[in-house]
Amino acid sequence: MHSDIEKILVSQEEIEEKCRELGELLAEEYKDKFPLAIGVLKGALPFMSDIVRHMDTYLEMDFMDVSSYGGGTSSSGEVKIEKDLNTKVEGRDLLIVEDIIDSGLTLSYLVDLFKYRKAKSIKVVTLLDKPEGRTVNIEADVVGFKVPNEFVVGYGLDYQEKYRNLPYIGVLKPHVYSGE
Ligand code: PRP
Ligand code: MN
Ligand code: MG
Repeated sequence: MHSDIEKILVSQEEIEEKCRELGELLAEEYKDKFPLAIGVLKGALPFMSDIVRHMDTYLEMDFMDVSSYGGGTSSSGEVKIEKDLNTKVEGRDLLIVEDIIDSGLTLSYLVDLFKYRKAKSIKVVTLLDKPEGRTVNIEADVVGFKVPNEFVVGYGLDYQEKYRNLPYIGVLKPHVYSGE
C-alpha cells in the first residue's frame, strides 16, 4: 500500500470483479445497439478501460475532458470543457462512464449538454457514488460502489493530480492535505 494512504476502501480484486459484473450487464443492455461510450477524463480512464473489455458487443469510444475541482478536495462549483468529443451525439445511444458522482455537477452538466445535442438515449455508469456529496438532484443508472463522505483517491481519482495510478480506492492520511 502507498505510504500516503490511510486505508483501502475498495480493493483491486473488488474493482476487477465489479468491472466484469457491470460490463456484462451493460453488454446485455446494448446488445442490439451501437452505443457511444463516453469516458470523462481524466478520472474515468482506468474504469473505462476495464469495463469496455467486459462488454462483448459493438461500441464506439470517445472522451470528453471536463473539470470541476481545480485540484482541491471540494468542487469549485464550475464545470469547464477542456476537450470536447470528436463524435456527433445526435441520435446516438450514449453511455457516460464516470469514476465518481459527488456533488453531481459534472454529470448534470454533461446530461444537459447531450440532451441539447439531441442524443437518442443517455445512461450513466459510475464506479463510485458519494450520495452525501450531492448538491444537485441526479443519479447514475448503474453504480459500482457507494462510498462515504470522505476524500477518496486511486483508480483514476486524484488529489492534486497524484494517486490516479493506484490500483485500488483509498483514503489519504490527513497530513497529506492538511495544508489546505
Ligand atoms: C472529478 C471526478 C468526476 C467529478 C465528480 O473530476 O472524476 O468527474 O469530479 O464530482 P462532482 O459530482 O462533484 O462534479 P475532476 O473535475 O476532479 O477532474 P478529473 O477527472 O480530471 O480529476
Ligand atoms: Mn472527472
Ligand atoms: Mg480531479
